[in-house]
Amino acid sequence: MLIEFSSPNIAKPFHVGHLYSTVIGNSIERIYKHLGYNTVRINHLGDWGTQFGKLITAYLLWGDDEKLTEEPIQELLRIYVMFHKEAERNPALEDEARRWFKKLEEDDPQAKALWTKFSDLSLKAFNKLYDRLGITFDSYAGESFYSDKMDEVVSLLDQKGLLAESDNAKVVNLEAYSLPPCLIVKSDGATIYATRDLAAALYRKRTYDFDKCLYVVGTPQALHFQQVFHVLELAGFAWYRDCVHIGFGLVRFADRKLATRTGDVIFLEDVLNESVKRSLALIEENNPALENKQETAEKVGIGAIMFAFLKSGRERDIVFSWEEMLNNEGESGPYLQYTYARAQSILKKSGIPDQASCDTSLLVSDEEFAIVKLLDSFQYAVVDAAEKYEPSILARHALNLSRAFNRFYNHCPVLSAEPELRKARLWLIRSFCAVLETELELLGMKVCKQM
Ligand code: ARG
Repeated sequence: MLIEFSSPNIAKPFHVGHLYSTVIGNSIERIYKHLGYNTVRINHLGDWGTQFGKLITAYLLWGDDEKLTEEPIQELLRIYVMFHKEAERNPALEDEARRWFKKLEEDDPQAKALWTKFSDLSLKAFNKLYDRLGITFDSYAGESFYSDKMDEVVSLLDQKGLLAESDNAKVVNLEAYSLPPCLIVKSDGATIYATRDLAAALYRKRTYDFDKCLYVVGTPQALHFQQVFHVLELAGFAWYRDCVHIGFGLVRFADRKLATRTGDVIFLEDVLNESVKRSLALIEENNPALENKQETAEKVGIGAIMFAFLKSGRERDIVFSWEEMLNNEGESGPYLQYTYARAQSILKKSGIPDQASCDTSLLVSDEEFAIVKLLDSFQYAVVDAAEKYEPSILARHALNLSRAFNRFYNHCPVLSAEPELRKARLWLIRSFCAVLETELELLGMKVCKQM
């Protein structure tokens, strides 16, 4: 089971759409792994294409090495934006950029060295983010990885008689599917995004012999994936059916404060920091005596953001709001984490060893029965979430389970109950914790024993 997700673009900011892909893809992979699948996590980095010609041109003209080491993404963005502004006045810059990209494709040492520098710096910045999110990849084979595997695609399509000329470019016609043609080679001979995706699909099939190859990429790219998959179909690869685009909606911000440092670009690090800061303030208010406040705030702040992406169906657009995201009584990450910590604190106070046997037939109240039913339905929720590629099914289940627990907590005394009933209720709480912890793990979030 291949899960391609995150896939940010080198030298550009990691935007909120990439975060959406990162969170959803991570969860889908964890869910499949939990079900026993052999999974591969792939980051299809956007590290090739004409924009690198522009970057090299811009860097040679205006690059500032000191800033580049300090804040690589900001500096690369600055010169990239500058390139576009200047190119409007001076179109010769575009030719210069095309020349540099061509050099890069021809393995020119200077071009290659600059590209490597930009890539390394960007990856370092991205990895900082992935570390904080607790996310790793098995493969970072991105677009550049396929730059030497494109000739094969072009000749293969040519052999099968699929290539047509159109304004000096080479395309595959997709009229039969009522789709626009898929561009394979541009008029200047450069290959493009779709060609690299075709090369990637062939490589992945050969390397991993996948059962499914999932592409967790925003819905605006739905047409692109339809085109790529149909070209594979026309080329006679029956496994094109196993390639699945997992789309997701757009993200809007209810609170302008979530945005911006440079123009309209939102730096995710700022968003994460803000969420952690707000979580810390809430902890200071509710539980000032807590140890490891900073560590807990990190788990809560990041979990809150992740859960905001996970809780509704992925095709829906989402509106980010701090109030909702951090409301520990609402449908939020902190609500789940609080509920878990509450259950843990009862277990801790009880002093009963983990394996104490008990008489479960004493658990007869509606509140207890509701929890038991949800513990049972967890197994179906995981399978359903996997089949529909929809972590929100698990997120909703975790919310329902936590609500049931809180109702039980408010209605059924535990520590002060009769000894046998007390044991049985503690057993129920332990089971609840085990399932909720697994669910949060499958969503990519962390639990806190105390909050
Ligand atoms: N880097 C692309 C972007 O930011 C996403 C890559 C999606 N994956 C793919 N196989 N085309 O838009």
